[in-house]
Amino acid sequence: MRSKDGRTTKDGIRIYQEADFAGMHVAGKLAAQILYDIAQHVFPGQTTGEIDRIITNMVAEAGAESATVGYKGYQHASCISVTNVVCHGIPGAPIPLHGGETISKNLEKRRSDDSFKDGDILNIDVTVIVDGWFGDTSRMYVAGKLSPKAERLIQVTHDSLMKGIEAVKPGNTFGDIGYAIQSYVESKRMNVVRDFCGHGLGQVFHAPPNVLHYGRPGVGPRLEEGMFFTIEPMVNLGRAETEILKDEWTAVTRDKSLTAQFEHSIGVTADGCDIFTLSPGGMFHPTYS
Ligand code: MF3
Ligand code: CO
Ligand code: CO
Repeated sequence: MRSKDGRTTKDGIRIYQEADFAGMHVAGKLAAQILYDIAQHVFPGQTTGEIDRIITNMVAEAGAESATVGYKGYQHASCISVTNVVCHGIPGAPIPLHGGETISKNLEKRRSDDSFKDGDILNIDVTVIVDGWFGDTSRMYVAGKLSPKAERLIQVTHDSLMKGIEAVKPGNTFGDIGYAIQSYVESKRMNVVRDFCGHGLGQVFHAPPNVLHYGRPGVGPRLEEGMFFTIEPMVNLGRAETEILKDEWTAVTRDKSLTAQFEHSIGVTADGCDIFTLSPGGMFHPTYS
């Protein structure tokens, strides 16, 4: 039984109440619905600016708010991270590199615009606020034809998130989650980004703890019923290191390798967890839609 009074653990992690799960389910569901509905708008020639405009309208039509507009000066309802952009890609900004399978050391030419090329893979990350509750989720999409190399990266990244989620239950630790993700990714000869992590959320966007996507079994705070947080592993085909561009947001792989990310918002239950951002019809993975 969950205690009646909310409390915070010694690690600063808020323990939410039974009734709070309902608010998170509503917010998470809207964010997931937006990721589902936006899939039809991803195709070669489409721009990240247009996708963000559509998402902005979807959020407004739902009577919700975007958590990212005005967040630390960020001005968009989504982050759209293409090919070698790890996270925090800015909609409407020129996409840093030519993408898909064409990425190589000799192809460092900047694109002149924000439109997708055939074979580009991209992450769209949306966070909404509904009645004060935050729903934060992201998934991968493909513009045009998915290459075998990109498909493998996307599959491993998706599955690593699910392995992390499987490790969520009271008594396990945050290190168990990180270990589940890291060991799986490295067994596939890919690398987990260390420079960004998941986070507590609920009635705030980013709260303790930092949810690392690497780690050792048994290390870190113990999971308790009523903890709400995201798991959002970023996986690179090449090295794990990232670099932030001069715009102070866009994070790219240092070696320009292809990268992918999936994110769910979850809440710890008595015997596992609830996924607040489950996709309608299970449409979370690009090859399913
Ligand atoms: N949604 C991102 C996350 O998963 C945060 C984006 S912050 C922004 O935590 F300002 F870049 F939008
Ligand atoms: Co997040
Ligand atoms: Co997010």
